[in-house]
This record gives sequence, structure tokens and C-alpha cells, in this order.
Amino acid sequence: MRILVTGGAGFIGSHCAKRLAAAGDEVVVLDKLTYSGNRANLEGADVEFVQGDISDGDAVGGAAEGCAAILNFAAETHVDRSIFGAAEFIETDVLGTYVLLDYAREHGIRFVQVSTDEVYGDVSEGVSSKEDDPLRPSSPYAASKAGGDLQVLAAVRTYGVNASITRGSNTYGPNQYPEKIIPLFITNALDGESLPVYGDGRQTRDWLHVEDHCAGVELVLREGEPGGVYNVGGGEEVENRDLTARILELTGTDESLVRHVEDRPGHDRRYSLETSRLRSLGWEPRHTLADGLPETVAWYRDNRDWWAPIKSGEYLEYYRRQYAARLS
Ligand SMILES: NC(=O)c1ccc[n+]([C@@H]2O[C@H](COP(=O)([O-])OP(=O)(O)OC[C@H]3O[C@@H](n4cnc5c(N)ncnc54)[C@H](O)[C@@H]3O)[C@@H](O)[C@H]2O)c1
Repeated sequence: MRILVTGGAGFIGSHCAKRLAAAGDEVVVLDKLTYSGNRANLEGADVEFVQGDISDGDAVGGAAEGCAAILNFAAETHVDRSIFGAAEFIETDVLGTYVLLDYAREHGIRFVQVSTDEVYGDVSEGVSSKEDDPLRPSSPYAASKAGGDLQVLAAVRTYGVNASITRGSNTYGPNQYPEKIIPLFITNALDGESLPVYGDGRQTRDWLHVEDHCAGVELVLREGEPGGVYNVGGGEEVENRDLTARILELTGTDESLVRHVEDRPGHDRRYSLETSRLRSLGWEPRHTLADGLPETVAWYRDNRDWWAPIKSGEYLEYYRRQYAARLS
């Protein structure tokens, strides 16, 4: 099948584009190449690449020609950046999703929206979010993703678009832009720099390996129901402070690098996903943090050429804006 993978030069999208190409699908990647998009993520992959914006109907029309499905990974994705300003998040995550959906409606093709557990907001100890739970986004990022999800559900109901939604939990693995906790802390530790832990570090995340995330999205693409929403959660709940300790150990560094800094405003305490709907299609996570985290640390150790150039220019400006006062 010919598939348009938007955001396919980013972290999860590139793993998924390569996975589909390896499975024999014809893959076209449409990516704007924002700060987190990286052509190197697709090196050696058998995919067509088009640079363009998902909120530009002409760019979408050109790239999607002949495709039987669209997988939408393209998004502004970082909560901290959304707190500085949400305009680009609304442009891409809401308007862009609408433009893609409109193409899927006009051409009668399949559409999968890659969303996030953050749309549910945080949940108390002992509770896991189910697909039909109300959406209670806490951050501008989560609100923009929830806006995209609601566009999808409305298009299914009103126009009969053959669309499904996946809601993945916090994802880790190779090729992740070093602004989110795992790649940020690994690369900082490898450079002997501070690890800025927000608040008390007791926020809990439900970790998912990128390959398990892609397997879930692929299954939903092929077997998901129109209008179906599917949680994709690794089921490994870990507090940030424990995750930090594991990263220190795996990088051969110690507690002296840890700095507890002022918390992120609106910071969700705990995410947890109930995943029986996706499991009933035959999915289960194949990786645990016990194997996935050491492999990921090894990848960053062996691929300094991939991340060292990123940690300059715009990245440093962002990093100073986010952490300089917190670390001073
Ligand atoms: N990383 C996670 O932990 C996680 C968890 C659950 C869901 N998700 C979702 O998965 C998707 C991919 O996340 P990621 O972590 O790979 O993000 P990422 O930031 O690494 O990649 C996003 C990609 O989208 C591209 N992009 C951004 N705006 C665009 C636009 N207007 N038009 C075309 N391309 C554009 C970027 O250039 C980049 O290549 C997102 O939709 C995100 O909400 C991520």
C-alpha cells in the first residue's frame, strides 16, 4: 500500500516510516523539517521524501497523490515549548490535522491520527485512562493534540471518514531529539552536565519503546475500526527521579549531576493507560525499560555525531531560556 507518513523525519515517525518500508509498503514522507525534524533519521531508508507543511493544502495534495492512507505523526510536540507560546501548536496540531483529514475525506482514504496520553490529563494512583474517558488536557501542547483528536472524531461522525486515533504514552528510543527527559538526561550525563529534574521528581510516566509504539500504530492502520481510539501504553510506570537514577547508573555518572529545579507550570503528576482494546487486536509491548534503556543509552553513546550538532544554535537558545534561571 502507498502510505503518506507525515512528520516522518521526526523521532517516532521515522521509525514507523522505516518499519512500513521494510514491510513492503510504499512510503512517502511529508515533513516540514522544523527544529526536531532531521533527514538523517531516514538515512538509507527506502522512502520518498517531500519537504512541506501539513497545514498547506497544496503540499498535502501533492505528497498524498496515489496514497491509500495517511499516518499523521507531524506535530509540535514539546510541552515546555508550548508553554512559551502555543500558536505553532495550534497551526500544526489542529489546523494541520484538519487539512489532512479534509484530503482523506475528499479522496476516501484511510487516516490514522497519532495522539498522546496527555490528552486525558493526569490520573490518580490506581487509575488508568480508558479511550472513552473525558479529555482534560493540562498543557497547551496537550490541548492542541486534543483539538486534533476532536477534529478526527467529528470527521468520522459527520463525513464517514475512515479514521482512527492512537494515544501513545511517553516514548523513548534512538533518534529522539534531546529536549525530552530521556535523551536530554542521557546526553547531558554523557557530557558531564547537570540533569535538571523538575520539582520533587515524583511525576510518573508510563514508558513505551518506540518500536512498540510503531507496532501499535501499524496494527491500528491495518486493523483499527473507523472512529476507533486505541491507547498504546508500555505499562511501565516509573517516577522521574527513579528514571534519572537509572540513567546515572547506565552512563557511569552519579547523583552530583542532579539538580532539582523549579517545576513546569501545570505539570501532570501521573499518566497511565489501559490498553486492553489494542491488546485485543494482538498487540503487546515487546520491550521493557530493563532492555530498552541500556540499548538507548548505548545508541546515544555511539551516535554522538547525530546529537552533538543538534545541541548548538537554536537548541542552546531554547535550553538557556528554559533552564538558565532554574539552574542558576
Ligand atoms: N514522543 C512521545 O513521547 C510521544 C508520545 C505520544 C504521542 N506522541 C505523538 O507522536 C507524534 C510524533 O512525535 P515525536 O516525538 O516523533 O515528535 P518529533 O518532534 O520528534 O517529530 C515531529 C516531526 O513533525 C514534523 N513537523 C512539525 N510540524 C510540521 C508541519 N506543520 N508539517 C509537516 N511536518 C511537521 C517535524 O519536522 C518533525 O519531523 C506526535 O504527533 C506526538 O504528539 C509522541
